Amino acid sequence: MTSDLSSYMNECKKLLDEELPAYIDRLEMPESLKDAMLYSIHAGGKRIRPILMLATVEAFGHSIKEAIPVACAVEMIHTYSLIHDDLPAMDNDDLRRGKPTNHIVFGEATAILAGDALLTQSFELIADSNLTSEQKVDLIKLLSHAAGPSGMVGGQMADLDGEKQELTLEQLEYIHHHKTGKLLVFSIMAGAIIGHATSHQREHLRAFGEHIGLSFQISDDILDVEGEEGKIGKLPGSDETNEKSTYPKLLTLDGAKEKLNHHFKEGLAHLTAANVQKDTLQSIAKFIVERDH
Ligand code: IPE
Ligand code: IPE
Ligand code: MG
Ligand code: MG
Ligand code: MG
Repeated sequence: MTSDLSSYMNECKKLLDEELPAYIDRLEMPESLKDAMLYSIHAGGKRIRPILMLATVEAFGHSIKEAIPVACAVEMIHTYSLIHDDLPAMDNDDLRRGKPTNHIVFGEATAILAGDALLTQSFELIADSNLTSEQKVDLIKLLSHAAGPSGMVGGQMADLDGEKQELTLEQLEYIHHHKTGKLLVFSIMAGAIIGHATSHQREHLRAFGEHIGLSFQISDDILDVEGEEGKIGKLPGSDETNEKSTYPKLLTLDGAKEKLNHHFKEGLAHLTAANVQKDTLQSIAKFIVERDH
């Protein structure tokens, strides 16, 4: 990662690390629920979805301040998806973001409710933002679609249905595109909506997001095989234990890396065609294909 990108990401992360818990802290709720929500929010993570949204807003010359509530909303939904993904009934993982998973610390019932709470709360952040009513409705509709049955939840279901089975590349692409791609595409499209993109720019940014969304999950699969626990903050080997279909399993590690590069290049062509200030977005895409965490 270049030092420019690293300081950009650190600055955004610092801002998000302050804003995100503040949205939860000020709410009235049982302390046990608040503790569980804040535990996973404070655990950190790369914040790649909100950072992509902020970078897209800036690519249109708008201030990142306009996007903060929506950026926090998508990170809340992502964090809920991780809490539920780690549950014994799903991937049954004990380590997340370098810490014991939510259900290990708070128990399964509280972890389920903390996830539910983060999901639901996210929509209030958008409704309460200073954007126009039209932008808010567009964003709420896009986010519920990206996170719901035709988006991430549908992808998670297909992922579970596919355990212990040999899937085709097409089926695997469906899973990755939905369980992970959809929220990444939303993050970029939200930036485009806030930045008043033309329909031509939206189409190319959507395609850019789809390619880097796939790249992101392919690299997640690769890191599950060859990543280091200290860097990825989770225990490698989860996919093999759960007999998941993954890109490395289907295509070998080298084949998966080739696919990763293919989607990176295709994505960049669309980013160029979108005709925006592309430097930061291009560097984030590069980070996604080269990442070790
Ligand atoms: C992990 O997401 C789960 C996927 C959808 C691939 P991240 O790799 O973005 O996890 P954090 O937020 O940095 O912990
Ligand atoms: C999860 O995919 C995608 C989500 C929507 C949470 P994985 O199950 O591969 O994510 P990790 O590896 O546990 O972070
Ligand atoms: Mg999973
Ligand atoms: Mg998992
Ligand atoms: Mg994984």
